[in-house]
Amino acid sequence: MASASTVLKPIFGTVGAVVGLYIAFIGLLTIPTFQDHVIFLHKVTLTWFQDVSIPEQWGFLRNQVTPFHLTTADGETLHAWHILPLDTYRQNLDGLRAEPTGLRNDIKETLSFKLLKDDPSARLILYFHGAAGTLGSGFRPPSYRAISAASPNVHILAIDYRGFGTSTGWPSEAGLLSDALALANFALDTAGIPPERIAIFAQSLGTAVAISLTHHLALQSPPTLFAGHVLVAPFANVELLTETYKVAGTVPLLSPIAFFPSLLALLNKFIKPKFPSKDTLASTIRHCHSLELKHKTKYDLTIIHAEDDYDIPWLHSEIVFWHAVNATRNENDAYTFDELHSVNSKRKTGLGAGGWEVEWRTDDGIIREQIVKHGLHDRIMSYSIVSLAIARIYES
Ligand SMILES: *[C@@H]1O[C@H](CO)[C@@H](O)[C@H](O)[C@H]1NC(C)=O
Repeated sequence: MASASTVLKPIFGTVGAVVGLYIAFIGLLTIPTFQDHVIFLHKVTLTWFQDVSIPEQWGFLRNQVTPFHLTTADGETLHAWHILPLDTYRQNLDGLRAEPTGLRNDIKETLSFKLLKDDPSARLILYFHGAAGTLGSGFRPPSYRAISAASPNVHILAIDYRGFGTSTGWPSEAGLLSDALALANFALDTAGIPPERIAIFAQSLGTAVAISLTHHLALQSPPTLFAGHVLVAPFANVELLTETYKVAGTVPLLSPIAFFPSLLALLNKFIKPKFPSKDTLASTIRHCHSLELKHKTKYDLTIIHAEDDYDIPWLHSEIVFWHAVNATRNENDAYTFDELHSVNSKRKTGLGAGGWEVEWRTDDGIIREQIVKHGLHDRIMSYSIVSLAIARIYES
């Protein structure tokens, strides 16, 4: 007969090993390089062994997508895609089919670029993807199609950030802003598209990049503000993310730590990327309301989140929306989170199984929150809610 101790010893041993590994993991999280791997997941390519210069692999027509390179101000080379609207493609079928395919050395020489640059009615989406993967991963290709479905003349420019896919360099908070700026400058200067015809689509990590880009451009003199922003599954900031993030939607990696707020705060001190989206967005909106810009620029913001998003809980969108709305109000009229919640519950449009939406309009812009019941973290990008959000930007 086995005694209690011979049964329990291995169990204690195993528990001890798991706890030991966990402590080692938390220790690793204080190392910047390891943090970068966890936050950006840029080495998790997902499109293993697939060449992102052959977009036909993801269901695109010959030369519907043009792969090209963009250079950032600090000398990195980013891999980018220009995705043509289907109707534009149809009208130029023969010319497009006749061109060479694959990575193009000079995008300006391509027919697709001319179709964007020379068409005064062309609309352009700057696309900022989330962590991990490449331009071709997961629900990104279907999400390009959801954006294209919004309106007949919507072009998309998307990039792999530095360190992702075949882009050079290593990701960082400041680096990703430079990458976004390189794309924005390409759209504004090289392609010569005015900001009224440009909008932003971003998901997950990309929302932090987009919010930071918008802030940077709005504070320039003169300011640049794009026609609209669609933010899918945003997060409030990295600090709040560490409390709630679940790896692969199931493993709440930091929950044991989050149970002790001071321990989590200590860990957060060591985490370099901050991505303070809620505050950056609020600061942009305050700037648009400032005397200097009052009634000169209009922001258009749509925040979309699925209730069944297990990677980033939709509470993050509630927090982002709260900060954005608060930024439209005077100090004396500021809402607490709960106050805004009760105000919203009266203003909300309920859509049954389709979720609900709430709209906040001021003289200087519009902020929408759309919560759907189904869509998880990535799948939602390919849904009609995205097409509608893009279409609404251009209707106003
Ligand atoms: C709301 O805005 C006021 C300024 O109008 C600011 O002092 C306060 O910190 C803001 N609160 C939140 C939660 O953003």
